[in-house]
Amino acid sequence: AEGSLLKIGVIPGDGVGPEVIEASLAILEKVARQDGIEYTLEHFNLGGERYLATGDVLPQDDLDRLRRCDVILLGAVGHPGVAPGVLEKGILLKLRFDFHQYVNLRPIRLYPGAPTPIRGKGPDDIDMVVVRENNEDLYVGAGGFTYKGTPEEVAIQTSINTRAGVERCIRYAFEAARARASRGPFHGLSDDDKRKGFVRQLTLVAKTNVLTFAHDLWMRAFTETSRDYPDVKCDYQHVDACCMRMVTNPERFDVIVTTNMFGDIITDLGAVLQGGMGLASSGNLNPDKTAPSMFEPVHGSAPDIAGQGIANPLAAILSTAMMLDHVGAGKSAERIRRAVASVLARPTPKTPDLGGKNTTAEVGNAVRDALD
Ligand code: NAI
Ligand code: MG
Repeated sequence: AEGSLLKIGVIPGDGVGPEVIEASLAILEKVARQDGIEYTLEHFNLGGERYLATGDVLPQDDLDRLRRCDVILLGAVGHPGVAPGVLEKGILLKLRFDFHQYVNLRPIRLYPGAPTPIRGKGPDDIDMVVVRENNEDLYVGAGGFTYKGTPEEVAIQTSINTRAGVERCIRYAFEAARARASRGPFHGLSDDDKRKGFVRQLTLVAKTNVLTFAHDLWMRAFTETSRDYPDVKCDYQHVDACCMRMVTNPERFDVIVTTNMFGDIITDLGAVLQGGMGLASSGNLNPDKTAPSMFEPVHGSAPDIAGQGIANPLAAILSTAMMLDHVGAGKSAERIRRAVASVLARPTPKTPDLGGKNTTAEVGNAVRDALD
């Protein structure tokens, strides 16, 4: 994208969303100026306030305009005055599905200076990435009620898994594992693994012993796709064991690929490993680039701290870096990550979630200054 005009759709959203997006746009502005990235912003007023005022969730016109953007940066949606699910399903899930953002990429990396609750583990131990399938499984909305509200009520919610949908996600994960070879071999590999030619590792996280149809398909797709990646070691963990090992042995994970539902859960656990919701970034990727990809912090609108100017902007700033990776501005992305790392390595400024007393703006400004 360097040198050509990039069109970025911005959805600040609700609660702390606009606060962390403002800080992120200031970082983007500086790095773009320094690195010669030309871009335009198109702002979208979507979220709880608009819904309460007009009843609009995601009108067709906004959807069409979003589709014409190259990428989308989103704060968070979710409003205490709106029934749960209306905005999350109507905006977030709708965009993920309509724009075929079939990969949800969530790096879990502990920066030096960020607090992890895992005793005895440090930045060298906590450095993995989760590739969460983002278009299928229980999130499709296939289901229904009978006898709703009666003692005989039946509720059904079906997990949809297609061979094509699963395989494209797994293939993306193998590519992601292979791409990490540029950082050197995965340190969790044994000498025997290295002799076999393995360089990085991909762990399938599923529940093949119970979900014997859906996850049988996942396992077959995983095994068959792996033949194209002889340099990537295949590993498997049941999701419950994975949760345990992420805490006891985070260093054993390199890249994880998993279902939409399990990915949702294990990445909140992952967010805690890396210092909390204030640091967890994500990208909803359409790897084929047939529609825009969307980048957002993992956290929600945080109504408990919204309006106080104390939300940690680093998750949104790191999501902005992922957006730059996606558009081919990887060097600028890496400069943002280095600036974030240098701020985290200092005692101040830090927002309250990291034990500090500073504001969103103070942390954002420090990252901006560290870009020099
Ligand atoms: P949340 O992520 O908004 O908040 C969970 C906890 O983390 C809160 O204590 C909050 O103060 C803290 N937190 C979150 N972001 C932070 C930040 N940047 N800095 C410091 N602390 C931060 O999740 P919660 O409370 O379950 O949901 C609130 C609303 O957000 C709901 O309406 C929910 O549906 C929505 N939501 C939206 C998401 C999205 O837009 N992608 C994702 C998750 C929730
Ligand atoms: Mg979640």
